[in-house]
Amino acid sequence: MRPLDSLTSIKVKLGVVILVAVAVTATVGVLGVRAGFSPLACGVAASLIALAMVPVLARGMTSPLREMAAASRAMARGEYGLRVTASSRDEVGELARAFNAMAADLAEMDRERRDLVANVSHELRTPIGALQAVLENLADGVDDADSETIQTMLVQVRRLGRLVAQLLDLSRLESGGLRIERRPFELRALLEQAADESRLHARQLEKAQLHVSVSVEPEELSTEGDPERMHQVLANLLENAVRHSPSDGEVTLLARPDGDRRGVEIVVADEGPGIPAEEAPRVFERFYRADAARAASDGGSGLGLSIARWIVELHEGRIRVEPGEPHGCRMVVSLPGAGR
Ligand SMILES: Nc1ncnc2c1ncn2[C@@H]1O[C@H](COP(=O)(O)OP(=O)(O)OP(=O)(O)O)[C@@H](O)[C@H]1O
Ligand SMILES: [Mg+2]
Repeated sequence: MRPLDSLTSIKVKLGVVILVAVAVTATVGVLGVRAGFSPLACGVAASLIALAMVPVLARGMTSPLREMAAASRAMARGEYGLRVTASSRDEVGELARAFNAMAADLAEMDRERRDLVANVSHELRTPIGALQAVLENLADGVDDADSETIQTMLVQVRRLGRLVAQLLDLSRLESGGLRIERRPFELRALLEQAADESRLHARQLEKAQLHVSVSVEPEELSTEGDPERMHQVLANLLENAVRHSPSDGEVTLLARPDGDRRGVEIVVADEGPGIPAEEAPRVFERFYRADAARAASDGGSGLGLSIARWIVELHEGRIRVEPGEPHGCRMVVSLPGAGR
């Protein structure tokens, strides 16, 4: 039991403890003297009773501090599961609640760090394993170093290089090491360049029939931001759109003013299978793949959209997924700012 838990200030609690101790000492002293005991014996007895009462009353005032010290030592050892009792309403209780919230945040960060290490190792292992298998076959003389074998190795090395570049980008973005250099730029040129590159990508995926169209309304629409970084966003969105489109489908890239905030809206739409509504919020998470088996065989690691979201958010913009009409996927980027 913690008798003073309901008091909201540690000063008031201390005052109550002192008052009760003084009152008990005085009462015991007076009663003892009246009963004929010597004043010295009464004084000693009263002090002992008061001393015994203080720990009972003050119970719970300092124990959260001791619990916090123990929990901090556990955290230093990497254990984030301990929580302290936070039932009192005074400053120590407030500190205990803040401590518990911090411990929960640290536990979550620790879990994310472990996940990240596990995911990165897993993603690196796949291409390294494939490379190793080909090289072992070459070393054992099972395979010849013909152009097909070299091509297989090149694909895996490219995949490794891309993954490392993506991880580096993501770590710079998350640590705030990557600065956005804002300047006004025209959207038409940016969209045309990204579309040209995605047509090339479509040809590489043997989807030569795929049509990539660009529409900018009004023609001279411009915005403010870092054009290189925005190009990276569009490249990631278009890469997904081309990859998921049917080979004779249409990928639409359009930019228009965003009425609400005098900003602009950029949409990348495709006619592929789309993203189910329940998956939509998760596709922006690191390493998340809606269809893991297929994405892995296609070479995706689930980092493209998280990089895109970081860049858009550094521009104080938003990115969201919408279902396409009648099917497909629409990625909508809204950028605030100067517009037009
Ligand atoms: N246009 C799209 N149509 C259907 N599904 C999509 C589309 N864009 C993204 N997705 C789904 O969202 C997941 C996450 O996309 P993201 O771009 O982050 O990763 P990825 O394309 O798998 O790999 P990476 O971009 O790192 O090469 C994809 O694996 C895919 O399942
Ligand atoms: Mg992608």
